[in-house]
Amino acid sequence: MDNLIKQIDHSRLPAHVAIIMDGNGRWAKARSLQRSAGHVKGVETVRKITEIASEIGIGYLTLYAFSTENWNRPRQEVDTLMHLIATAIERETPDLIKNNVRLTMIGDTSRMPAEVVSRLQKCIDDTASGTGLTLCLALSYSSRWEITRAARRLAAAAAAGEIDPADIDDNAVAANLTTAEMPDPDILIRTGGDMRVSNFLLWQIAYAELFVTPTFWPDFSKEDFCRIILDFQSRERRFGLTSEQINETI
Ligand code: IPE
Ligand code: IPE
Ligand code: MG
Repeated sequence: MDNLIKQIDHSRLPAHVAIIMDGNGRWAKARSLQRSAGHVKGVETVRKITEIASEIGIGYLTLYAFSTENWNRPRQEVDTLMHLIATAIERETPDLIKNNVRLTMIGDTSRMPAEVVSRLQKCIDDTASGTGLTLCLALSYSSRWEITRAARRLAAAAAAGEIDPADIDDNAVAANLTTAEMPDPDILIRTGGDMRVSNFLLWQIAYAELFVTPTFWPDFSKEDFCRIILDFQSRERRFGLTSEQINETI
């Protein structure tokens, strides 16, 4: 593990890593356990991956914890997830502060239980002065919800005469997304093996490097995370240019 960390080039770290934390249910099923046992175990992985991201010196870690579509799961599972999120956040706040981590969240909080939102808000306030890793939880989040909201905001500003529709560019759209304060993800990881993005950060991952691992989220380790960072550092990101152009600029 220490050896893996040493191999990471700290001058070329991803600014932002986003993760679709998938496979809790299948992890539990493979052990003849309730799905909720997978979610409980998944919270431990959140803790571990936050620790390693912070230790490596990554700026932003966004974790997809609950999607807009997940509201359609059985009521009991939704309740369990909401309860788990609230209790885990409360329990972890002292360690987040100790590790200089700042918590933020993106998503439609109006759909979440008020109690859960207020506990999250307390942790966000308590960690606001953290200058290390920004841990962003995507909760009740979906990209289409967010892009639709941005379109509505821009249309309202145009209708009010505050902006000229002709001036709406990439930056104006990005500034109206919930991720406005964050750089775009350099890396998108999905655990659990499914090759899809499930309505996550569709605008922001335009040039993200994709990593899909068959490992279920509860089994995803610090080592797995470090290996992905190393693999990322070996890739050539061309952003539409030719390889020759990229190498000229170095
Ligand atoms: C991810 O695990 C957690 C959430 C979506 C909340 P799942 O619960 O989707 O697990 P699988 O995909 O059914 O294995
Ligand atoms: C994506 O996982 C959402 C989260 C990890 C929170 P899902 O399990 O909801 O995705 P699908 O249904 O397999 O696309
Ligand atoms: Mg799933």
